[in-house]
Amino acid sequence: MKKQDLINLIKYAIKAPSGHNSQPWKFKLEENSITIFPDYERILPVADPDNHELFISLGCALENLIIAAGYFGYHTDTDIEMKMEDPFKESIRVEFSSGNNQNYDRLFKNIEIRQSTRNKYNKAVIPPAHIEKLNEAGNQDQVLFLLFTEPGQIEPVIEITKRATVLQLSKKGFIKELMQWIRFNRKTAKKTGDGLYSRAIGSPSVPKWLGKLFLNLTLDPKREARKNVNLMKNSSGILIFIAKENNKEAWVNLGRSFQRVAITATPLKY
Ligand SMILES: Cc1cc2nc3c(=O)[nH]c(=O)nc-3n(C[C@H](O)[C@H](O)[C@H](O)COP(=O)(O)O)c2cc1C
Repeated sequence: MKKQDLINLIKYAIKAPSGHNSQPWKFKLEENSITIFPDYERILPVADPDNHELFISLGCALENLIIAAGYFGYHTDTDIEMKMEDPFKESIRVEFSSGNNQNYDRLFKNIEIRQSTRNKYNKAVIPPAHIEKLNEAGNQDQVLFLLFTEPGQIEPVIEITKRATVLQLSKKGFIKELMQWIRFNRKTAKKTGDGLYSRAIGSPSVPKWLGKLFLNLTLDPKREARKNVNLMKNSSGILIFIAKENNKEAWVNLGRSFQRVAITATPLKY
């Protein structure tokens, strides 16, 4: 394969979501393969002490890579090597050969338009045909995928999320770490190409010092928890992804499952 074709595939891989948009991945290109490595310089020790979010993010990038490769006509073989504790031996190798026979057109087109939305939804009922598509996308190896639409299923999740939000935002270390990843204005966001652009998380675009001051003075964990509750109550459903085993390989597969659901859901209208 030409180097440019490999680089093109990476362009789609890195459109994947990641915790705090930390983009904790590195890629090695070889003649007919791309290997994804964790980037331990981009960890989130407070938000993600066991790095499970990091490996989920790698899984999301892997799923994009596989779908993009399929779209461009390649068959892929994936080898997830996560047994060793040595970070240099943790890798996800994707080998490309010709002869893909699956139709990835629809999914591929959604890679570029999928995004994390933190706005209020309209609580419309999801048609059964859509639910079927999402279930099919979410049910992957090592992952339990649950789609809750009934109030009786959703209420307990809301309660847990509310308590978790208060706990998380009451931690000074969490806020300090989060602030390192907030890009308070467009110029900084463009320069770093990573992190959370403040306008995308509902805050005004301001100079960094002012943004930090504003956040420190106004952040109220209980109010943020109420905001989350309101968002969840106005959603059509809640998706839950559970890794059946608590290890890196299962976390990667969970990321694959999440990403496939996300890009399957992106164009669905109802
Ligand atoms: C493992 C993981 C955890 C995430 N956790 C949160 C979260 O707690 N709150 C949130 O608003 N977004 C969360 N996100 C979404 C990211 O912030 C988002 O993917 C990133 O900012 C890039 O934006 P995009 O998804 O629109 O491309 C998470 C994403 C991943 C993959």
